[in-house]
Amino acid sequence: MVAEVKEFLGEDWKAFEKLFAEILASRIPILNKVNDYLIGRSGKQLRPMLCLLAARLCAGRCTDASVRCAVASEMIHTATLLHDDVADGSDTRRGAPTVSALMSPTASVLVGDYWLSRGVITLIDACEKETLRYFSECLGELAEGEMFQIEKAESLDTTLDDYIYIIAHKTSSLFRAAMKSGARNVGCSAVQLEAVDSFAYHLGLAFQMRDDILDYSPALSIGKPTGQDILERKITLPLLGAFAAAGADARAAVVAEIAAGRFEGVLPFVLEHGGIEYAQQVLEQQTSQAVAALSVFPDSPAKRLLTALAQGLCLRNC
Ligand code: IPE
Ligand code: IPE
Ligand code: MG
Ligand code: MG
Repeated sequence: MVAEVKEFLGEDWKAFEKLFAEILASRIPILNKVNDYLIGRSGKQLRPMLCLLAARLCAGRCTDASVRCAVASEMIHTATLLHDDVADGSDTRRGAPTVSALMSPTASVLVGDYWLSRGVITLIDACEKETLRYFSECLGELAEGEMFQIEKAESLDTTLDDYIYIIAHKTSSLFRAAMKSGARNVGCSAVQLEAVDSFAYHLGLAFQMRDDILDYSPALSIGKPTGQDILERKITLPLLGAFAAAGADARAAVVAEIAAGRFEGVLPFVLEHGGIEYAQQVLEQQTSQAVAALSVFPDSPAKRLLTALAQGLCLRNC
């Protein structure tokens, strides 16, 4: 799927890759070394794809500004991962040691700041004024989502609404900024912008739900350890589903175990009470809502690829 999108984007994707590699050059050798390490182990690069597909969807073409927005999306994403790995104490990402583990948490935060700064600089002058607003709002929302997650990890009383709030802020926010900026910089209409925003919102929720389901799927290899969320006291969708099925007393007993630092019973509890199936159903509802948001657009290759990307999220093993 990813290969198909890259092939469809053709020269625009090549322009993305070129600018992405150029933009990071620093005078500090150790920083260049870390940057090379990160670029050499790039992830799925989903956000820049979505950004460029949004431009193609609205105008049938990408511009220099679209490519810049795509680069900023991936750089800001990488920055948030560098920060997130410190927040979560994660040693492995994309099948390799994190910068936090290889060097230090401080280095990871600083490299993250550098990528953030370079990402924003990429946008200045070349892009529509609103673009900076989208990305700035997104960064604020990301911090709000992560902080609320910390609060809930303390109180252990996450509700479904809290969970949706957290993932909308920490994950959908960047999907929305990436796609809205892609659309806006090719002069989309207000109706198109709203549709793209809604697609990105629901896709972002579905994407994080899938990540949270995979965290409860020890048999799959996803380049980062599974079973981590509960160790960080994050109550995510599979556990919320199991809570709803098991009832208040069982919920209180499991929360008491988590509060006491005993996590072994959580995975069996989630499996026994159908938490994975529940989460999968909610994920599928979100992907349907994402696809429905595209109904204002006539059929096009970009629309078909966005639809396929959304539907592909429902598959457990991709
Ligand atoms: C990881 O995002 C963080 C989440 C929002 C779950 P990705 O799964 O897009 O990370 P990479 O860039 O492909 O590694
Ligand atoms: C997503 O949350 C992180 C951001 C959106 C910054 P997670 O903590 O679940 O992401 P992973 O699992 O570490 O990739
Ligand atoms: Mg994490
Ligand atoms: Mg995760």
